[in-house]
Amino acid sequence: ASGTGDAAELLLRSPLWAADAPALPLPRAIYGTLHGEVRPNSAGIDLPYARARAGIAARARSIVITPPADVDPEAAQAIVRELDAAQPAWDALGVSARAQMLWRAADLLEERREYFIALIQREGHKTLGDAVAELREAADYCRYYALQAKHLLATQKLPGPTGEENRWSCRGRGVFVCISPWNFPLAIFTGQVVAALVTGNTVAAKPAEQTRAIAAAMVDLLREAGVPPSALRLVPGPGHSVGAALVAHPQVAGVVFTGSTSVAKGIQRALAAKDGPIVPLIAETGGINCMIVDSSALPEQVVDAVLRSAFQSAGQRCSALRVLCVQKELAERLLPMLQGAMDALSIGSALDFATDVPPVIDAGAQRALCQQMGELERTGARLLHRCAWPEALRKGAEPGGSVLHLDHRDDRGQIQHFVAPSLYAIDDLTAFREEIFGPVLQVCVWESGKLENLLEQIRSLGYGLTLGVQTRIDDRARTIAARCRVGNVYVNRSMIGAVVGVQPFGGEGLSGTGPKAGGPLYLSRMVAEQTIAIDL
Ligand code: SER
Repeated sequence: ASGTGDAAELLLRSPLWAADAPALPLPRAIYGTLHGEVRPNSAGIDLPYARARAGIAARARSIVITPPADVDPEAAQAIVRELDAAQPAWDALGVSARAQMLWRAADLLEERREYFIALIQREGHKTLGDAVAELREAADYCRYYALQAKHLLATQKLPGPTGEENRWSCRGRGVFVCISPWNFPLAIFTGQVVAALVTGNTVAAKPAEQTRAIAAAMVDLLREAGVPPSALRLVPGPGHSVGAALVAHPQVAGVVFTGSTSVAKGIQRALAAKDGPIVPLIAETGGINCMIVDSSALPEQVVDAVLRSAFQSAGQRCSALRVLCVQKELAERLLPMLQGAMDALSIGSALDFATDVPPVIDAGAQRALCQQMGELERTGARLLHRCAWPEALRKGAEPGGSVLHLDHRDDRGQIQHFVAPSLYAIDDLTAFREEIFGPVLQVCVWESGKLENLLEQIRSLGYGLTLGVQTRIDDRARTIAARCRVGNVYVNRSMIGAVVGVQPFGGEGLSGTGPKAGGPLYLSRMVAEQTIAIDL
């Protein structure tokens, strides 16, 4: 049975791949909660998956991608006016009805998993493992926010003197603009949109230009789950024109944005300058994320965590590791191991099951990464290691490639843009202070007795998204976590793959405003509160 949204139901749910169906490995736990207790339910992890794998690979190759056409800025503004007119009725529908729609959407996502996974792989260039994780994250957001909203939107009676009744309640603010990135084209798009919808807001959703087809497919699915066009509109188009027109509209009551720090600041300025009410912004941006490794850490464990954190998804995660900070005593042993392990990474098409490092999203991203590596070298970084191109990519590569970048046409004629996973040595964190959003890792060796100095350098970067700590010294991780102003700290594990409701995700400083996605406070930024005090 589905659709009730009861917490207890989560524990009874089938895994994403039911026991009698061909199954895929599930790299993340499904979110579940009962009486406030959060339990990962990893049922299904060991089920056989070969048949499903082959089926999905065939589907990903044959799927036809039809991105929706751009909307022009005037049309975008007209959409905001329509959404504003429709918001009171959507709010009045009540949270139970809306939560039920989210529940149904999660069920539909699981039913249509093979279609969405194929779409994510083709349009988003993500590996099968990443695409499965993303689908699961999207479904988790639907269920988690459905439960959170029911709690948040229930009217509460507050204490007062005899003869006075006090009630506190929350409701939707109005029209929310949700602007989402290409690196999590399903999960982040869905998380932003369903959070704003379930709290009683109508939504103008502007997806990244590179991944509009996935967004359109998700909007269709939400319609099927019961969300009417009057409550949710897809508004594709360039950020500088359509995104800007949406944000500047006086009837917009809130903005949710995931992307770069500079665009987030631009949105903040535009919101301050526009006519109309003062509105909230939830911005999730990037980070220069560090992993601190001390001499007590286990080298094999560190190498495993570094490879996942820096090179999975071709490093195109805001959570990804950018600077590995190793204590000198371990560096001599660790760095050759890391370089050897980098050589074992498989670089290839996202559709190839063996791929560890897929292509980057497009030619623009490839160009920017190559330029940044040039700048990194000009500021004194020394190349320690760069992965060589595998034979399969070298053969049939497009002309103009180099050791740094290579283009390859897949068997459907689509060009894929690769950047070679690279490792640079830097002396400290002061020379180059930009996020490098790709498979490029910097390593900085610190001397015993200089931990405090390293922490000061990390703090002075101004970002605060993720931090890794690798140590076997009791309490060191907690001390470091307390000193660093970062949103997500990961100890003796990788730094990516936050699970909804389990590791609420988001940072502070240049990394964003909070509240954290998939956390208990997220919805609170999307509601208006009202207190009613009545003398009886
Ligand atoms: N939430 C993602 C992660 O944890 C990053 O956006 O990797």
